[in-house]
Amino acid sequence: MRAIVMEAYGGSDRLQLRQMSDPRPGAGEVLIRVRAAAVNPVDWKIRQGHLRLILRLQFPYIPGGDMAGEVVAAGAGVTGWQAGDPVVGFADLRRGGAYAELAVLRQGRFARKTPKLSYAEAATLPIAACTALQALRDLGHLSAGGQALILGGAGGVGHFGVQIAKAMGATVTATCGPANLAFVRGLGADRVVDYHQEDVTAGDRRYDVILDAVAKGSFRRCRHLLAPGGTYVTTLPAPDVFVWDAVERLLGILRTARRARAIMVRPTQADLAFLGQLAEEGKLKPLVSRVYPLAEAALAQEASQAGHTQGKIVIAP
Ligand SMILES: NC(=O)c1ccc[n+]([C@@H]2O[C@H](COP(=O)([O-])OP(=O)(O)OC[C@H]3O[C@@H](n4cnc5c(N)ncnc54)[C@H](OP(=O)(O)O)[C@@H]3O)[C@@H](O)[C@H]2O)c1
Repeated sequence: MRAIVMEAYGGSDRLQLRQMSDPRPGAGEVLIRVRAAAVNPVDWKIRQGHLRLILRLQFPYIPGGDMAGEVVAAGAGVTGWQAGDPVVGFADLRRGGAYAELAVLRQGRFARKTPKLSYAEAATLPIAACTALQALRDLGHLSAGGQALILGGAGGVGHFGVQIAKAMGATVTATCGPANLAFVRGLGADRVVDYHQEDVTAGDRRYDVILDAVAKGSFRRCRHLLAPGGTYVTTLPAPDVFVWDAVERLLGILRTARRARAIMVRPTQADLAFLGQLAEEGKLKPLVSRVYPLAEAALAQEASQAGHTQGKIVIAP
């Protein structure tokens, strides 16, 4: 198969297109013909070696955590999946694998792809949409009628965050740059703030949940924006979040305490299926702003690294 391969940590020039032997599904795994792989910031952070303390790679390494494609074969002990089934799932980032024509997915980490979404659209769901869902639902406990603030409403996590918060019945404020105002409004945000023009942390509105997908806001700057009992959830763990989390847990959780949490996305079949259901109901539509061929994976990661992705970038093998 053709795959993008890294032999060492480094710049985007480390991403080389190569012929590799086909992976084989082990027990509890399926082999997938990859139709689309989404690019996430974690892909280039891994490439640069930023996560090497917690994620030690074995080289040669095939990048990519998110994929959608068709089942080619099932390993021992896999039931309920046939060759040709359309699926979407999380690769194991330690093993990598989505930037390739074939890849392996473990049971419990993938779900059936809804026909409502193309392969490119479906491939964007695992990391970014599950992060937004788990942050708002599991850490933020957002409920119908609540107020949500999404910092970075135009990016991968943020554009899903806006739609999921609306699907949960919240009133949504989102921040983005001037080029994305119409896009974020179109996602359903009730109020869109251009961060070049207005500092949302200077406002006097109060929110039940703040999803910080930019993580330049820092909990200290956002804390006063939280309603009593409200929660700030960041996608990038920062020291002030851990300190506040520890203090708040030590003091005991008061109903009016303001909470700070860092999300670490959990790969679950149930959440992928739930997001597919939202898409079927017309409540969730991934925005794929650009599709790169496999050979241009380096360009795709450079575009992500520039920090202004609208929706998601996808690689099509
Ligand atoms: N912990 C986890 O499990 C987890 C999971 C997923 C992602 N993450 C992390 O979360 C971060 C976001 O991920 P992502 O996939 O959403 O990234 P992304 O798609 O690259 O998001 C980029 C977006 O950020 C916006 N942005 C940049 N500066 C901004 C600012 N000051 N205010 C508001 N928006 C701003 C840009 O919008 P404009 O062009 O309008 O500026 C762009 O749309 C990354 O650091 C990623 O590694 C963590």
